[in-house]
Amino acid sequence: MSVEPLTALPLDQLRRRKSVKWRAYPEDVLPLFVAETDFPLAPAVTEALTEAVSVGDTGYTPGDPGIRDAYAGFARRRFGWEVSPAGIVTTGDVIMGVVELLRRVTSPGDRVIVTPPVYPPFFDAVPEAGAVVEAVPLRETDEGFELDLLGIEAAFAGGARAILLCSPHNPTGTVHSAQTLRELADIAAGFGAVVISDEIHAPLAGPGFIPFLSASETAARVGYTVTSASKAFNLAGLKCALMITAHRDTSAAVAGLPDEVRWRTGLFGAIAGVAAFSPESDPWLDAAQAAIAANHRLLAELLAEHVPGARFRIPDAGYLAWVDLSSLGWGEDPGSKILREARVALHRGPQFGQGGRGHVRVNVGCAPEVLTEAVRRIGTLL
Ligand SMILES: Cc1ncc(COP(=O)(O)O)c(C=O)c1O
Repeated sequence: MSVEPLTALPLDQLRRRKSVKWRAYPEDVLPLFVAETDFPLAPAVTEALTEAVSVGDTGYTPGDPGIRDAYAGFARRRFGWEVSPAGIVTTGDVIMGVVELLRRVTSPGDRVIVTPPVYPPFFDAVPEAGAVVEAVPLRETDEGFELDLLGIEAAFAGGARAILLCSPHNPTGTVHSAQTLRELADIAAGFGAVVISDEIHAPLAGPGFIPFLSASETAARVGYTVTSASKAFNLAGLKCALMITAHRDTSAAVAGLPDEVRWRTGLFGAIAGVAAFSPESDPWLDAAQAAIAANHRLLAELLAEHVPGARFRIPDAGYLAWVDLSSLGWGEDPGSKILREARVALHRGPQFGQGGRGHVRVNVGCAPEVLTEAVRRIGTLL
């Protein structure tokens, strides 16, 4: 059954928003950079937040605001994953969770693997936890991007203590295969190392997505997942993320985090997250996925028409598009030229580390008309 795509809000309404996407640049710039979307909220989220505002429900977040059960239901429905609600602890946001887990599982100066090109704050999260980044870039094959398992094994053999996995991967939108995840788990286990899987984009993925902790018994033993409703449902400002474990040792490690880590959970984030992960929001999420898939197809057509020479592969999941503009002669950082001369704000490739030169990241979580105008503007630079 085909799903009717969700319609994004019009620009005049979006410009009333106070979030960074709409306040970072002047009005003549089309913002397709930060990972916020332009869709209306899921109705169940609006309803839950409106009720919270109407009764002044703006206090502290309880230990279990209902989001553990809501997420367990969501994981069962969307990924066929049986996650135990008891293995879920909340915190303020995904990077907060990543930093606190890294602090817990590494010692100062330990090396932590990241796999560029990757979400730029990973390069800050690792040192924030007292560890040191060891980059093992993704490999690009004819089929897309994949983890360099041999490189990762060599890094563990050389003493790295953990890997910060991005699954699905930002910016390439790669969904790692079950076999890749199982092999990664085996490699990490062989060296007594830890996998922290950032699955913030997973709620936007289809049924082919494999949560790391579900990949194998070994993965459940060596892995920690951090996720949130915030990317799929556009709730980043509300501050609620989930740290998930599936083994007594990893659960004990999370239980050993300072209480303050849990207290950082935003109550509005938890309330919105419960509504987002409820079955009532599934039709909205299906419609958002349909809109995003249509926009990726549109982007491919628009680039072929207006920016021939751009290289783009439709991602497996999510609303981020990783576009290689290196053949255009616009230098290492085409995003700067595009902002200056085309008045379109994109995320700049070099910020994503190795493999980012000559690239831009485009956020297609917008109206098709906005995407069309953005690519048309970029095309005028040729
Ligand atoms: C892979 C990844 N992790 C983490 C974040 C940030 O999440 P949070 O705001 O919950 O820290 C983002 C935001 O786009 C992301 O893409």
